[in-house]
Amino acid sequence: MKIAVFSSQPYDCRFLDEAQLRFAASRDIELVYHTESLSLQSVPLAQDCSGVCVFVNDVLDRAVLEALARLGVKAVLMRCTGFNNLDIAAAARLALFVARVPAYSPEAVAEHTLALLLTLNRHTHRAYARVREGNFALDGLLGSTLHGKTVGLIGTGKIGLATARIFRGFGCQVLGYDPFVSPAFAAYGTLVALPQLLRQSDIVSLHCPLLDSTRHMIDAAALAQMKPGAMLVNTSRGALIDTRAVIAALKSHQLGALAIDVYEQESELFFHDRSSDIIEDDVFQRLITFPNVLVTGHQGFFTTEAMREIAETVFENLACFLDGSACACLVPGTEAVLH
Ligand code: NAI
Repeated sequence: MKIAVFSSQPYDCRFLDEAQLRFAASRDIELVYHTESLSLQSVPLAQDCSGVCVFVNDVLDRAVLEALARLGVKAVLMRCTGFNNLDIAAAARLALFVARVPAYSPEAVAEHTLALLLTLNRHTHRAYARVREGNFALDGLLGSTLHGKTVGLIGTGKIGLATARIFRGFGCQVLGYDPFVSPAFAAYGTLVALPQLLRQSDIVSLHCPLLDSTRHMIDAAALAQMKPGAMLVNTSRGALIDTRAVIAALKSHQLGALAIDVYEQESELFFHDRSSDIIEDDVFQRLITFPNVLVTGHQGFFTTEAMREIAETVFENLACFLDGSACACLVPGTEAVLH
């Protein structure tokens, strides 16, 4: 079986090749790597392939899925947890096997959330640059003590829970909001309604999926409800935040600081070296001019352990597809399809 791997970077090749040796050496599988992301234009790269392997910013809308199905593609192997880029109804109608990686080291993303927060709060990124230039002045590096602060986690699933555990270790009071109660969360924090979480939290961190109901959940109204000067962290999906409203809240000082690993229009930017390009996204460019904004390019998942788990799960899912055995990682809404 031939599989076109889209949006592949050298590290994807390394971990997928290693996993193939460990998990599928005896099977006749050929991975064909493409740096291009999947879109209607790049679908022809999947010619002669019965599967595609994709990542967060690959397009899996109706038109792309139909074009893939016409080429004979039967399996879509996602290398990510979120599936907001997938048209579930179209995938089900086309009887495609679509599997994801529901859990891989949630701690990796939780730890990156803390890395962003600690950097932004204690200005270690600025201190690093200053010290290298022989500037040891502290002015501008004032932070606040996390111990005793209230942290509000929106989404208390696997990553929210791992984040709650770490914040408890820092001596923070943890609040959580989730429409689906997670009993495990009670050990680390208190579930409250969203308005209460926004009102009471010194730090708000997003850990819920991007759905129609959560798109722009942090809009002007939500930002106005937050504690003046609170910090906002988003390591989940960019479109959970209305970026223009966030910029307005930063300018008015209502929002004290912002750390993001994801950005609504990230597919144009992230995972590529754009350092010699003119970046046309003025909203993004404005965002990174703020001294109290920290942006990383969707690297929350990027640890050796997580990359290994992702690659292994891709091959486990592929084995289910090839053997016709039950797959626990099918994207919800596509399971009804008999493969
Ligand atoms: P999960 O499915 O274990 O947890 C998500 C939680 O959000 C669930 O408990 C769900 O009930 C809750 N939720 C659903 N609608 C909500 C709403 N309206 N308000 C508040 N909570 C709501 O997923 P997991 O593994 O914790 O991942 C969370 C998100 O993190 C993923 O959807 C993905 O977008 C993002 N992610 C980001 C990565 C990165 O590299 N930055 C890597 C992996 C995931």
